[in-house]
Amino acid sequence: MIKINLLLLIALTLIVFVGCKDLPKEDKMVLDDDENNYTEEELYRPNFHFTPHKNWMNDPNGMFYLEGKYHLFFQYYPNSTTWGPMHWGHAISTNLITWEEQQIALYPDQKGYIFSGSAVVDNNNTSGFKSDSKIPVVAMFTYHNPKLEKEGKINYQSQGIAFSLDEGLTWEKYEGNPVIKNPGIKDFRDPKMTWDAIHNQWILILASGNKAMFYKSTNLKDWNYLSEFGENIGAHGGIWECPDFFPMKIEDSNETKWVLIQSLVAGGPNGGTATQYFIGDFDGKEFILDTSFKKQLAIEKAKWLDYGRDNYAGVTWSNIPKSDGRKLFIGWMSNWEYAEKVPTNKWRSSMTIPRELKLVKSDNRYTLLSQPVNEIKKFASKIIKKQFLKIEKEIVLATKLEFDFSSLDIELKLKITQENTVTFSFKNNKNESIKFGLNNKEKFFFFDRMKSGNLSFSNKFAPQQSIAPFKDVKENVNVRILLDKTSIEIFYNDGETIMTEIFFMQEPIDEFTVKSEKSNSEIETITIKQLKFE
Ligand code: FRU
Repeated sequence: MIKINLLLLIALTLIVFVGCKDLPKEDKMVLDDDENNYTEEELYRPNFHFTPHKNWMNDPNGMFYLEGKYHLFFQYYPNSTTWGPMHWGHAISTNLITWEEQQIALYPDQKGYIFSGSAVVDNNNTSGFKSDSKIPVVAMFTYHNPKLEKEGKINYQSQGIAFSLDEGLTWEKYEGNPVIKNPGIKDFRDPKMTWDAIHNQWILILASGNKAMFYKSTNLKDWNYLSEFGENIGAHGGIWECPDFFPMKIEDSNETKWVLIQSLVAGGPNGGTATQYFIGDFDGKEFILDTSFKKQLAIEKAKWLDYGRDNYAGVTWSNIPKSDGRKLFIGWMSNWEYAEKVPTNKWRSSMTIPRELKLVKSDNRYTLLSQPVNEIKKFASKIIKKQFLKIEKEIVLATKLEFDFSSLDIELKLKITQENTVTFSFKNNKNESIKFGLNNKEKFFFFDRMKSGNLSFSNKFAPQQSIAPFKDVKENVNVRILLDKTSIEIFYNDGETIMTEIFFMQEPIDEFTVKSEKSNSEIETITIKQLKFE
């Protein structure tokens, strides 16, 4: 009997072996195929954050909504996984979560590389680009002329436009470019256009060294300078880039304020690139800081949209229908301090989850809240809820037997006492981990990726933990966590404080735990959702 079994085993092994050997070439290729998620080079590809199929990506650009489709363009270099002559890549989604990459939208030309910018749907054909009753979509970008730059000139950045008559699929550059010439300013870029319905005009904001500049137009081609904002206001650890500017209704009120979002290339709250915001009023010409916001700034120096190290150059979608009414934002999930060195091979960089912004005011303080768009909820499969968990020493909240940790959406309510510190950890059997939580005594949230696996690519990646200070001690904290294979986005208290960070673990996570310094805190409720995307 044993002999027969042994013979059978040998025969089976041979069949399998010979079978494998004889696989047609195409089938074997599948292992190296671009789509295969398990090859070495795809090890770090996220499951639900946009990445380009191949090569380098930075800032989100030109986002607009039209006919059921969300368009996302992005700074793209199709010949390498590091930055190079910039193009606009393009992707489309019908649900803001799963994206289909399109052909390249804009290529560099003699006038220069195609740097960051925006797009609007010109519903009333103010530009005159309409033809055959097709509504024009108009994009504005910065022309960055490398020749002039090399020659040591300072006027190498100007603004150009392009239009599309097929809902953003193909683009024609305007023959009259540039539409805004360089006025003798070295860093003069990243125009963000908005229809200002309050003053009946197109406006744009662009970054210009240590400040932002405003322009207006009636036809998207001729632009008049209005004013500037920001010198000596807010954070200036590096030059300003990629601004955005739009009105927002304050939640639960009829009051409208203008929000100015402003990225800066260095001097973020935890090092490197980051994004701050300002709240004020706009009379159609000038942006004036709100007086209570000014007081806030006097204390806090800057209001940060995200305290994590990996949310940069984010801006909002245009043309979201009134019936929807949301302000939707997406950022580049990296940091110029190490972006070109992160250990992905075939592609580099991903975007944050698209977020809904809300403006709230309480105790005379303004806060711009960010939360993941609701669309993510549609992708929940398995859900586990737990209640009233006393946090004593370290307790396990979930294991790999219950969940695949590479796509999770977690919500929890924490009750914490004054003097306590609570630490959440995601870890694997290689002793790699990411840790985060809050120190209620010294009053800060923290995120720690110092043992998160591959760190060797840059000593700027994890020199210390990131910190987000808060004012009053907390008793109740709600936490929303989106965990992808190589990123975590943590939203505290309905998106009041956010920490977005990437990491590169070598093995999958297999445990989620929480521990507490003192045994008098509790998780009131926790909901863990497995996300599935096929
Ligand atoms: C921000 C930025 C922009 C510029 C683009 C170039 O990350 O430096 O200011 O337009 O990237 O790729």
